[in-house]
Amino acid sequence: MKQHNEYQSYLGIPPLAGLCSMARAVDGTWSLDESLGRLKRLHYVLKRLHEMLTERITAEPIYELKTAFSYHAYLCAEQVTLLRRRVGEMREPPLGLESVPDPALARLMDEVECSPTTPAFLAGVYTVVVPAVLQACDRIRSDAHPLADAPTVRVARLIHFEIGELVDFGSAALKQMDDESLIAERQPWIDYLRTCIDAAGEIDGVQATGEDPPPPWHSVTPYRYDNEPRRDERFQDPYNAGVNPEAFLYDQDFSAQDKTLMMYYKRIRELDVPEMMASILVELRQEEPWEFHLEMSRQLWDEARHAMMGEVGFVALGIDWRQIPINFTWSRNLNLQLNARERHGVLFFIEQNLMPRTGKRYEWEVANESGDPLSAVFQDFDWADEVLHAQIGRRWYVPRYESLKDALSYGDACWSKVLSHWKSYRDQGLTQHRNWWPEIYSQACIGWDKDPDPRALVFCETYEDKRADLEKIR
Ligand SMILES: [Fe+2]
Ligand SMILES: [Fe+2]
Repeated sequence: MKQHNEYQSYLGIPPLAGLCSMARAVDGTWSLDESLGRLKRLHYVLKRLHEMLTERITAEPIYELKTAFSYHAYLCAEQVTLLRRRVGEMREPPLGLESVPDPALARLMDEVECSPTTPAFLAGVYTVVVPAVLQACDRIRSDAHPLADAPTVRVARLIHFEIGELVDFGSAALKQMDDESLIAERQPWIDYLRTCIDAAGEIDGVQATGEDPPPPWHSVTPYRYDNEPRRDERFQDPYNAGVNPEAFLYDQDFSAQDKTLMMYYKRIRELDVPEMMASILVELRQEEPWEFHLEMSRQLWDEARHAMMGEVGFVALGIDWRQIPINFTWSRNLNLQLNARERHGVLFFIEQNLMPRTGKRYEWEVANESGDPLSAVFQDFDWADEVLHAQIGRRWYVPRYESLKDALSYGDACWSKVLSHWKSYRDQGLTQHRNWWPEIYSQACIGWDKDPDPRALVFCETYEDKRADLEKIR
């Protein structure tokens, strides 16, 4: 019997801080190089996942997928950050985190990025790549020295914990969207992705064969980001800018309860922010450091959450939000008319203006006064999120300018030069700018069991000549 099997800890309390048994700890088959190699490969794959999920946000029409991609891109960004930090702890600047660790992994990720259809993309991400990432994390947990390389083991466990839920979401979504013929049609390509993983010797390279990856399939033509926002068929009349919710919200004449309805609309309409922010992340991919992408991805995800809070608000009020035109011309106009730096300027300018008394605090006060506890919860956290976003802007946008004042006026000027196309969208027959408010407000009043306020019922301010900050359009 070997010495270590007789080893006794004090009173039999688990030894080694509970990391592992002594029998496991005396096994010396692991190295820093092995650990680094696996971490870098995982880093590459998760970073590519972050990029390709972000790229799809703008033009993916289906709301549930658009918001899920926002979430999953953010989760991937957090894992990338964990991995970068751990690699940075392993005595090796330069870290080499920007280089491609294996051409077969590059082929795999290029192919998934170039998926020809949404179900193919879901299948590639959620049934092929993410499960392979989870397996690689499992192998780190069993192979890495639990004591010497405990920080890496922790990282692998955290990634597994956070990324695991992506598989559940993706499989459930795919089940609803797929049919036998779609599955059969893409099977050869799924097998092809498997061949790429085999050529890589799995995500972590543990079974490396030195084989070349197969030639590109869909990735023969490189992926092109589509910056034009799209919505599914539930979003009818998305060019409609016939109701100016800010004008209602800041009017002293209207009640707090009535304003909560308009705030739910403002929240769900925030779906345009992820659509716009994704374009900034894609276009500044090479120009900004990783920390920029991490923080902006968090902000993007928050904005998707804000939209979903609006959705929940309408469900709570028993109102079918599909009757409401949820406008997308803000993201559309910004994406099609400005460059990434200009869009960032507009974003910062708007968010900075949300901070003074008339902004997010005001919305929270209105929600509290309204007697709608759900609105109060949502505005409370919405306010907190927006404070964070203003800080992110101060870290990543303002330092490019001489002063805060310059940074703000640049954003204001960029916003002013965006053509709202209010009249031309109407003249082209894309919308009538129908005033949907009286109808939805009347429905809410039935739910609230009250008579509509006659003044609120005739509210009819539009965006024709005013921006969302109530500045006149020049
Ligand atoms: Fe927001
Ligand atoms: Fe925000």
